[in-house]
Amino acid sequence: MITERVLTGDRVTGKLHLGHYVGSLQNRVALQDQYETFVLLADIQALTTHFEQPGLIRHHLREVVLDYLAAGIDPAKSTIFVQSMVPEIAELTVLFSMFVTVNLLRHNPTVKEESKSSSLDEMYYGFLGYPVSQAADITFCKATIVPVGDDQLPHLELTRKIVRRFNELYQPVLVEPQALISDMPRLVGTDGNAKMSKSRGNAIALDSSTEEIAFKIKRATTDPARVHKTDPGHPDICPIYAYHCAFRSKDEAAEIREGCTAGTMGCVACKSQITAALEELITPMRERRAGYAAKPQLVDEIIMTGTERARSIARQTMNEVREAMSLNYFG
Ligand code: TRP
Repeated sequence: MITERVLTGDRVTGKLHLGHYVGSLQNRVALQDQYETFVLLADIQALTTHFEQPGLIRHHLREVVLDYLAAGIDPAKSTIFVQSMVPEIAELTVLFSMFVTVNLLRHNPTVKEESKSSSLDEMYYGFLGYPVSQAADITFCKATIVPVGDDQLPHLELTRKIVRRFNELYQPVLVEPQALISDMPRLVGTDGNAKMSKSRGNAIALDSSTEEIAFKIKRATTDPARVHKTDPGHPDICPIYAYHCAFRSKDEAAEIREGCTAGTMGCVACKSQITAALEELITPMRERRAGYAAKPQLVDEIIMTGTERARSIARQTMNEVREAMSLNYFG
């Protein structure tokens, strides 16, 4: 019998924002009630791009955990753990790297996209290989479901290939995971860019204050063709309309669409409605966050307990892997 196990994670490179919420946090919160759930703080993967500033990762680690807890990830249901503190993941990465070709890695579209400026020759070994390490993140606990954004699909495909190859070369020890893609479209940035991202400055952080939400929405791009309220708008190119779709009911979004295209609802009124909706979404998160932020020891305990749990599972899998690969020399 296969019991489902969920694993996801985030690079620890900064606070989380609404794009993370729509793309995967929301999904994780729902899944934790149904399945055993693991949430990985990918600090080693963050090092692939931030190895010159490891101190930043240390700082972001607690912020990301606070974001998780704020968004509703419940430590009683989900195991939150630190990648670098489960050395078995690094061990598995090395073993997998023996049978993954460089050719396979260099064609990974997400790696290509993320390294646009550098050619393969200039790419760091750890960066080129991070999808192999991600396969270890997923397989150490034999996860069956991996809720992620669609940019992660190539990594999931690689993981499945690695599992099949491992099981065929040695013994059928590892489990092939399935990606679970959010049915919400990727959230656009406040500047209309296809992706909300902190580095572009077009993100609304999950810990935004009332003033920050209002400011970001006020400044957000809208349909440039609308100068006067009575000009008919084009909601499909407006990030604000995308937010109405993501954070409000179908009926409410339909009403916005109608008012915008008919030129009866102006951008100011439309923006004030989404500001209120976001405030309503973020207020309970802000409160939960403050509750945990006031108890740093409790947060540390959550991370340590989760990591210990993940580690004991990793040790078990690693024993099976060693046996399958005849690496268990002394019994
Ligand atoms: N690469 C993922 C991202 O950038 C983060 C990640 C690391 C991850 N390890 C994982 C996601 C394992 C899912 C499963 O968002």
